[in-house]
Amino acid sequence: MLTIALPKGRIADETLDIFEKTFDTKFEFEDRKLILETGGFRFLLVRNQDVPTYVLNQAADLGVVGLDVLKEKEMDLVKLMDLGIGKCRVCIGMREEDELDLNRPEIVVATKMENIAREYFASKAMAVKIIKLYGSIELAPIVGLCDAIVDIVETGATMKQNGLKVVEDIMESSAHLIANKNSFIAHKEDILTLYKKINDNIKV
Ligand code: PRP
Repeated sequence: MLTIALPKGRIADETLDIFEKTFDTKFEFEDRKLILETGGFRFLLVRNQDVPTYVLNQAADLGVVGLDVLKEKEMDLVKLMDLGIGKCRVCIGMREEDELDLNRPEIVVATKMENIAREYFASKAMAVKIIKLYGSIELAPIVGLCDAIVDIVETGATMKQNGLKVVEDIMESSAHLIANKNSFIAHKEDILTLYKKINDNIKV
């Protein structure tokens, strides 16, 4: 049986939809349960940022996670396929009235994604002070906690409704199926069969 870690929320629902279409079986978590065993698979519901940790430590053979999270975590995992769901961008956001001046000596940036932010500003040879936050990032520049944010933009509604604008795109992201290297070797046949079935289904 393959164990697959899913990020709670929309990506989990959309992944289970892909499995339903692929295997013609109902995949649905009961109320508050965090484990689902159906159709020869065990699914785990975990926090988005924790998916790579479950997979890396072999608590799950496979996981579904955004490229942004994978880049942020820099863990040694096998990227199997792009599921084409959970599409978003990682962007720099600022208040409508502000501009990004790459010549300034230092910028204060609030973000959940410290590594991505640090790497981006290093590539621009700009000193950056990172303020780590865990959510509601869009609030930070409004109340003067930072000059800019590095955050996920999906529809753009959260930034817009909070008087922010995108000043730079850093990367595009979508949900990928990932594997633990040892699991990939140990369950190669099962994983490749799953890969082919999903791939065929996604193409249709
Ligand atoms: C993410 C992200 C933005 C929002 C972007 O937050 O951090 O706040 O979604 O979506 P939009 O462009 O469609 O408005 P999430 O919903 O994960 O909540 P969080 O603030 O608790 O991280």
